[in-house]
Order: sequence, then C-alpha cells, then structure tokens
Amino acid sequence: MNDVLVVKDLQVHFILENTSVKAVDGVSFNVRKGENLALIGESGSGKSVLGMTILRLLPKNVRVNGKILFNGSNLLELPEEELRKIRGKEIALIPQNPATSLNPVLKIGIQIAEPMEVHLGIDKKIAIQKVINLLKFFDINPAEKRVNEYPHQFSGGMKQRALVAMGTSTKPKLIIADEPTKGVDVTKKLRVVELFRRIKENNKLSLLVITHDLLFAEKLADRIAVMYCGQIVEVCEAKTFFEEPLHPYSKALLDSLPSRGLKPIKGCSPSMVNPPQGCRFHPRCEYATSKCLEEPPLISNGNNNVRCWLYD
Ligand SMILES: Nc1ncnc2c1ncn2[C@@H]1O[C@H](COP(=O)(O)OP(=O)(O)OP(=O)(O)O)[C@@H](O)[C@H]1O
Ligand SMILES: [Mg+2]
Repeated sequence: MNDVLVVKDLQVHFILENTSVKAVDGVSFNVRKGENLALIGESGSGKSVLGMTILRLLPKNVRVNGKILFNGSNLLELPEEELRKIRGKEIALIPQNPATSLNPVLKIGIQIAEPMEVHLGIDKKIAIQKVINLLKFFDINPAEKRVNEYPHQFSGGMKQRALVAMGTSTKPKLIIADEPTKGVDVTKKLRVVELFRRIKENNKLSLLVITHDLLFAEKLADRIAVMYCGQIVEVCEAKTFFEEPLHPYSKALLDSLPSRGLKPIKGCSPSMVNPPQGCRFHPRCEYATSKCLEEPPLISNGNNNVRCWLYD
C-alpha cells in the first residue's frame, strides 16, 4: 500500500439549534507515503476542521460520516483508547494557533517531553535531554536554558517551532501541520520550508500541510489539494497546479497572487449552512453554464482530479 492515509467521502457537519454547518461535505483524498501534500483554500473552507477530524479532536455537536483509513483501520470507528495511542505517536497535529496550544503554566521542556514519556515510555530525564537536542535542531537556543522556560518567554515563531519539535519527537508516520507559516514573516518562511525538509531527511514521514499561503505550498508540496466550501475541487501534482491548473477556482486563486496580477476573486465566500446548489463555485465562476446547477463529481483528467463539468 502506497498511502499512509485514505479519506473517503467524509462529511463533518456541526449541528446548531436550527441549522447545520456543512464544514466538510463529501471529501475524498489520500496522503501517499513520504509525500508532502498541501491542502489549500480560502479562509473558512473547512481545512482545519478536516485536519482535526482525522484525530477526532472536534466538539460534541458534530456529525461525522465517511471513512478515514490509517494503516487499514478506520480512525472514525476506533475505540478512544486505541485512538489515543495513535494521536501524538503515529499521527501528530501541529495546531493552527501556537499561542493557545501550549500550557502557560508548564515549562516548555516538560511539555515537549510528555509525548515521548507517554507514547515511547522514555524516562523523564532522558526525554528532557532529547528535548534539548530537539530545541537545538530547531534553532531554539541556548537550548539548555530554553528548556526550562515558560511559553510566555518564547516569541511566536519559537512557540511554533516548539510545537513542531513536539510533533516530531515521537517520529510519527504522518504530521498534520495547520498553517505553519502563520505569523512567520516573509523572510523567515523559507526557514520553515527548510525545517520541514530537515525533518523529512531524518524520518520517513508524510506531511499534510494546511495553508492558505500559496507561495509556501509551492516551495514545499509534492501535491496540492484545493478546498472550496467544504469540498475538494482539485488534486494534482504541485508543478501541474502552479503551471496549468484546471479548476476555475484554482485559476482564480493563482490570479489573486501579487506576483500574478493581484486579481481578486469576484463575489463572496459561500454559506456553509446553505451552500450553492450544484457546483459550489458556480455563482463566482466566469465559465458557469446551466449544467453547473448539477453537482459535478471529482473527474480524472491526466495528472489532475477536478470537480468541474468543463472536464467531463
Ligand atoms: N465548533 C464549530 N461549530 C460550528 N461551526 C464551526 C465550528 N468550527 C468550525 N466551524 C465552521 O466550519 C467552517 C470551516 O472552518 P475551518 O476552521 O475549518 O476553516 P479553515 O479553512 O481552516 O479557515 P482558516 O483558513 O481561516 O483557518 C467555518 O464556516 C467555521 O465557522
Ligand atoms: Mg484553519
């Protein structure tokens, strides 16, 4: 099997008093062994919800359907106890908001050491020594001093790197990194790319990077999955995406980049409570026809899989 993760027809709906928010609605994709897959798409399209669903880190008012296969077992059906063994050990999630993901009253070293103690049974003293090595690896220096500091003594970028260190400490098979360049200034973005490359050289792992930073995705990703209003509308090799994207939304996203003309996407983001009928992008699409009132499936077209009737 070449895939580390297979997601099949996933639906994640938040049930509110009189409505439901269809945050993820019929998503299928795979993450291959050893690859970097970037999940891109505008704010509110369901990227973080998708990432958190993989590890079942969602509130109670949620209804989830579909399958998430990891090593052949469906994570959605695993008993909580079994899932706890996978969470943080086999699959690590580096969350979107580093500021709220670290415990403010615990020393950084203790927090990074914990997954190694819990999942790998490593003795605390040895784990702390390993943390010091990790801090050095991630350029958090002087590591011997930093290991005893609290989160408020770390800058935003350092907290982010500390979470990456924690995520990699148990040598997981899959890392899900949610907006790893958020709050990282342009000059330091390449450093994050470099960081992930270094992690991958040391460990054979797959990376699912959630980002709306297209330039970062271009530098890092082997393949790109594009999300729009709770659905994946295109999946393809990164080179294909940046050179000849197929979906009108992919093209519009690229045209909105400063380096490609800074053309905003017309119209506004759709509602996830009452998504547009048929193709969800059709109200904003310059190629839309009456056919687009029917929902297109994900259609295979050479290197791309694209959810658009233009390629039927
Ligand atoms: N607990 C919740 N209850 C109800 N709706 C929610 C909940 N969490 C998320 N949502 C909704 O799900 C949708 C998808 O949110 P999500 O956080 O996945 O977007 P995103 O693509 O990660 O956006 P961003 O790029 O801004 O991080 C949004 O409409 C959001 O309001
Ligand atoms: Mg998000």
